[in-house]
Amino acid sequence: MWWEDAAVYQIYPRSFQDSDGDGIGDLRGIAHRLDYLVWLGVDAFWLSPIYPSPLADFGYDVSDHTAIDPVFGTMEDFDALLAEAHAKGLRVLLDLVPSHTSIEHSWFREHPDRYIWSPVDGPPNNWRSVFGGSAWSRDDVSGGWYLHTFYAEQPDLNWRNPEVVAAMQDVVRFWLGRGVDGFRVDALTGIVKDAELRDDPPAAGDFPLPLPREFGELEHVYSSNRPEAVEAVGALREAAGDALLVGEVFLGTAEYPRWLEHLDLVFAFELLFAPWSAEALRAAIEPAEALKRVAWVLGNHDFDRLATRVGEENVRAAADLLLTLPGTAFIYQGDEIGLPDGPGHDPPYDRAGRDRFRHPMQWDASPTGGFTTGEPWLVPIDPEERNVEAQRADPDSLLNHYRRLIHPE
Ligand code: NOJ
Repeated sequence: MWWEDAAVYQIYPRSFQDSDGDGIGDLRGIAHRLDYLVWLGVDAFWLSPIYPSPLADFGYDVSDHTAIDPVFGTMEDFDALLAEAHAKGLRVLLDLVPSHTSIEHSWFREHPDRYIWSPVDGPPNNWRSVFGGSAWSRDDVSGGWYLHTFYAEQPDLNWRNPEVVAAMQDVVRFWLGRGVDGFRVDALTGIVKDAELRDDPPAAGDFPLPLPREFGELEHVYSSNRPEAVEAVGALREAAGDALLVGEVFLGTAEYPRWLEHLDLVFAFELLFAPWSAEALRAAIEPAEALKRVAWVLGNHDFDRLATRVGEENVRAAADLLLTLPGTAFIYQGDEIGLPDGPGHDPPYDRAGRDRFRHPMQWDASPTGGFTTGEPWLVPIDPEERNVEAQRADPDSLLNHYRRLIHPE
C-alpha cells in the first residue's frame, strides 16, 4: 500500500499559510505551499479539521461534516487543492471526527436521539470529561443531561443508534467521492460507551500515557476502550473501502491489536511521550514495531512541541529516529524547522492550554514570517531566527536534515 513507508505531514490549517490577509490560514494558502511539501519529499498531508465549527475546540467541534468553514475557503477551493495535490503526487488525508459533534450541529436539536442522554435528572455516573469536570452537562433547552467526553460544546454521538452509523458512513463516502485518500480518525477510543453507563473504577495507576489529572483518577473501562468499538470501526471501514484509516486511539500499545482489526494504522503514542533516553525509547518502540502497523509520531497540535520536549540539542536525533523507524511516519508542521512552543494567546483561545503548540508556520524572516499579510491570529514565535527560507538555503540546517531523511538522494 502507498502508505506503508510514507512520510505524512500534518497541516494545522489555521496556522499554515494565509492567502487573504485575515490572519488565519486557509485552503488557497495551503495550495500555494504545495511545492514546499514536494520539495520536502513527503508522500501525503493530513489536514486537521476544515469543516464549519464554532471553535470551542478549534475545529474538532464540527457543525457540518460535509462542508468547508468559510474561514478556510469554499468547496471549490477544496476541490482545487485536492486536484493540485494529486497532480503533484501528494495524497490527501482529512480529519474525520466521528465520536462527537458541535453542540451547534443541527442534529443536536433535530435528532437528539443521535446523542447520549442520562436516563435520570442529573449525571447517571462518575464519568469525567478529558478537559475537566463531569462528562455530563444539562441542556438548558430540553432540560436533559447529555454526555460529552471533551468540552460541553461537544456532545458525544450514540454509536448504538444505527442512524449515527449510517450518517457517518455517508460522511466518509462524501469525501472519498471527492477524491480524498484517507482519514486520520479523531478520538476513536471513546466512540462506543458501556450500554449500562456503569461507573468507571478508580485508576489502577498504570496507564502508560499522560492524562489530565482529574480525568486520570479513573480507569476508563466503561466510558472508553469498549470491545464494541471494533464493530463501529468496522462500519467506518466498510464505507472507506481501502482508503487509509489512521486511528487516534489514545491508549498504550498493548491495547492496539483489537483496534487494528479495521484500521490500517494507529498512532504510536507511547513513543511520543517516551522520556528522551535510549532505554525508554526502546521500551516504547519494540512492542509498537512488533505490531507492524503503527504510525510513528513525535508531535501534533495537542502536545508540547518536539523541540521543546527533547531540547534543541536533540532535534536532529529525534528526526533520525522518526524517519528511519520502519513504517509510516507523521511530521507535525513546523517540527522540521525546530519550532518550539510559543507564548500562546492572552486570553487563551483554547481552554485546555494548547495555543502554544499551534503558532503559525515561519516561512521567511519578516515579522509575520510570511504567514499572512494581516494580523496573525497567533503571533509567530521567532521568524527572524528560524524560517523555511533561510533553512532551505543552508545545507546543514535541520530542514535539510529532514529532507535528506525523507528522501535520500
Ligand atoms: C483529539 C484532537 O487531536 C484534539 O485536538 C481534540 O481536542 C480532541 N481529539 C477532541 O476532538
